[in-house]
Amino acid sequence: MCPAVGLFSAAFALSGISSVDAQHVEILQLADKLHVAMTSGTAMMMIEDFLQELEVCLAIHLGTEERLMETFRFDRRTDHIREHDRARDAVARLRAASGAGSMPIAFDTMEFLRGWLRPHLEGPDRELGDFLREHYGKPVESARPLAIETGDVGRA
Ligand SMILES: [Fe+2]
Ligand SMILES: [Fe+2]
Repeated sequence: MCPAVGLFSAAFALSGISSVDAQHVEILQLADKLHVAMTSGTAMMMIEDFLQELEVCLAIHLGTEERLMETFRFDRRTDHIREHDRARDAVARLRAASGAGSMPIAFDTMEFLRGWLRPHLEGPDRELGDFLREHYGKPVESARPLAIETGDVGRA
């Protein structure tokens, strides 16, 4: 599907939640756009706008997942949100460094996408998808209890 990050129908597990699945496709298509720009020599011209678009897309998507995790009381959400924060920080750093529009930033951005996106889709997002397929649309009471209710002092 997306040569940029070696994707990978096996890694891209559908959650069954249309908004989440559509956002994943959008992010993968963005990664592909960078890959095409890099191979056609236009990455320097587009990297600043690209990072802005990636930051917005990620903010929307990560927020969607985090609201679902809260609503359905996903008990692994502290670790999952930590991974989201890692991505937010990385993209913010890349954006801050991209002012002059440089090829190294394009490479660094692709490295981030390869290093974070695929493992995240294959790991935490697959786990969340399994959980949501089981619980989405059912009464929240059927989901697992909130970590804070069980004495876990993690992010609640
Ligand atoms: Fe996620
Ligand atoms: Fe995701």
